[in-house]
Amino acid sequence: GPGLVVAVDGPGGSGKSTVAKAVARRLGLRYLDTGAMYRAVTQLALEQRVDLEDTEAVAQLAERATITPGTDPDGPTIAVNQVRVDAEIRTRAVTNAVSAVSAVEAVRRRLVAQQRQIVADAVGTAGGIVVEGRDIGTVVATDAPVKVYLTASTEVRALRRSRELGEKGVDDVARTLAELGRRDALDSTRTVDPLLVAPDALVLDSTGMAIDEVVDLVLRRCGEAG
Ligand code: C5P
Repeated sequence: GPGLVVAVDGPGGSGKSTVAKAVARRLGLRYLDTGAMYRAVTQLALEQRVDLEDTEAVAQLAERATITPGTDPDGPTIAVNQVRVDAEIRTRAVTNAVSAVSAVEAVRRRLVAQQRQIVADAVGTAGGIVVEGRDIGTVVATDAPVKVYLTASTEVRALRRSRELGEKGVDDVARTLAELGRRDALDSTRTVDPLLVAPDALVLDSTGMAIDEVVDLVLRRCGEAG
């Protein structure tokens, strides 16, 4: 039958990556981290000292670069111009600059087209794909039979992020919380493809839930979708 597409959207620290990868593994599907693609362009822009306010320059950079995301939930995340940048894209500098880059319309047009191609390939050859991001259910894969909007309280999301970054102090969590709030605001209010809840999405608030419970709910939804 036709391949399954599972769209997982939500803000930072909502548990999207963990849930999306687990669902892909359980169903034997491909996996695409679209946030990593925006992060990769951002990392390249910082490395080449491109002025992030210069949208023309940022757009050109995105057009010239070859961004190659992996689609194995247990494989490498991403390469830029054939060089793997899995760790480089997770730095605080990239995280704090990515919203400016992802707001550039030409960057989004380019990456969304590539994401749709990856989804089509996975549907045609691998039984389907789990795609995580901010605009998957609303823009990239509007026909996806399963759409999940994952969220959690800002405090819980900041704590998770802080833990991922290996931080320990209360000040670190406070700083991460402030940065997360700023990024949420930018991602939700930008003009092009902002973070929105798709009308047909299953909204899951993972604040008081274990990851396994969230994964089970998503898998159940996938079972219902056939
Ligand atoms: O998911 P992650 O936190 O890695 O995403 C990094 C950033 O990439 C987000 O803050 C957002 O600015 C951008 N993004 C986006 N659209 C997507 C995925 C990520 O604009 N589909």
